[in-house]
Amino acid sequence: MVLSQTRPRTWDTADLVTKDKAHLLHSVSNLRQVREHGPLVLARGEGVRIWDTDGTAYIDGFAGLWNVNVGHGRRELAEVMAAQGEELAFAPTFFGLATPAAIELAVKLGGLFPDPLNHVNFTSGGAESNETAMKIARYYWYLRGKPDKTKIISRKMGYHGIAMGALAATGIPAYHEGFGPPTPGFVHLMAPYAYRNGEGLDEAAFVAKLVAELEETIAREGADTIAAMIGEPVQGAGGVVPPPDGYWQPVKDLLDKHDILLILDEVITGFGRTGTMFGMQQYGIVPDLAAFAKGVTSGYVPLGGVMVSDRVFETMAEPDKMFMHGFTYSGHPVACAVGLRNLQIIEEERLPENADRQGRALIGALRDGMNDHPHVGEIRGKGLMMIVEVVADRQTKAKFDPTLNVGGRLQAATRARGAIVRCTNDGIAIAPPLVITDAEVAELAAAVVGAVDEVLAD
Ligand SMILES: Cc1ncc(COP(=O)(O)O)c(C=O)c1O
Repeated sequence: MVLSQTRPRTWDTADLVTKDKAHLLHSVSNLRQVREHGPLVLARGEGVRIWDTDGTAYIDGFAGLWNVNVGHGRRELAEVMAAQGEELAFAPTFFGLATPAAIELAVKLGGLFPDPLNHVNFTSGGAESNETAMKIARYYWYLRGKPDKTKIISRKMGYHGIAMGALAATGIPAYHEGFGPPTPGFVHLMAPYAYRNGEGLDEAAFVAKLVAELEETIAREGADTIAAMIGEPVQGAGGVVPPPDGYWQPVKDLLDKHDILLILDEVITGFGRTGTMFGMQQYGIVPDLAAFAKGVTSGYVPLGGVMVSDRVFETMAEPDKMFMHGFTYSGHPVACAVGLRNLQIIEEERLPENADRQGRALIGALRDGMNDHPHVGEIRGKGLMMIVEVVADRQTKAKFDPTLNVGGRLQAATRARGAIVRCTNDGIAIAPPLVITDAEVAELAAAVVGAVDEVLAD
């Protein structure tokens, strides 16, 4: 039984909406629209299903924010949270302190991530993890006597979070607008986005083009000024872009050749979402540093971290010197206890395998329903992260005029069909909990296909 079933509650939605409009400043939302129309207030969840305060049910087709991997309403996780909270709710990992929960989760992560990623520095979320990884890369070179290796290479369409350092690596213009000048020391490459950047090229030629751009960038900037390259194994928020299969290996080889570290941002792709435990396993590479968050606790409590390779760790641990980096909640015991139990569920229930199987089923159903639609440009993804990219014109791949508010209309139409997914003017991103069943896949696909048919009828 799940906790939510034992605690039925009723809500005064109108009152909550009024209070929301007066006091809750929403994130990544159109504030004017929310103030005018109010929020959708969600109150309860179970499995892939989520209910609003009026009792209307939806499929959570975005798993919260790509993070509720084990699904909603897990009593096991709530119990672990309560037990750890009672025993020791907080102790830091600063000043050489630790807790059994932080140590045990570190051991578990060291076992799950491929060798030599055996050391973890915890954070509270994805942006902090990426900033930590980029700082560790700089620090590594500093300790190796190369303090000028500080630049970070990232990619357009990459999303690494919105704190200042993570934002600097993020390659999506909308997140930068209005927030001041670009941070120096960050260089953005082209996205490995075959649909628009690889036109007319076969896979090998497209990979060669991407690798050549990286090589030119290293030559132009100077390898002795570059600390690391950061990238998501599969780009997520920028538009769900799985790179060509042969992309990551030559990138890694080139970086190795030039003494540049590779940071993989596994914040979305980690813990089963792509159909393997980690996104890097889809491409057969192991980075020097791997950032994670989201699925490590399935969002039940905030937690993130960075896996550090043996080589980097040895360099960091060698000098008799303080590592002056960390967050109050780095290694929070409640979060670590939940993380441990959550990872056990992911393994026991073989959720990466389910993500692979249901991901194929879902993308297949979307393609069956829409591949010939005049406004569907491409349907792509990996495991249970995918996108239906919509276009004004299939031939020219022209995007919709923003004034048409295609994203807003798709959002309304999908919600009216009982699905919560992420709709923008460029398409519908879908990433349900990894526990999704055959019947729920069919239901989610039908809602998305129906919404596209309604909104984008010619
Ligand atoms: C790939 C990736 N990296 C980093 C982040 C930032 O994580 P957070 O919002 O927890 O800071 C996200 C969030 O969506 C993400 O998708």
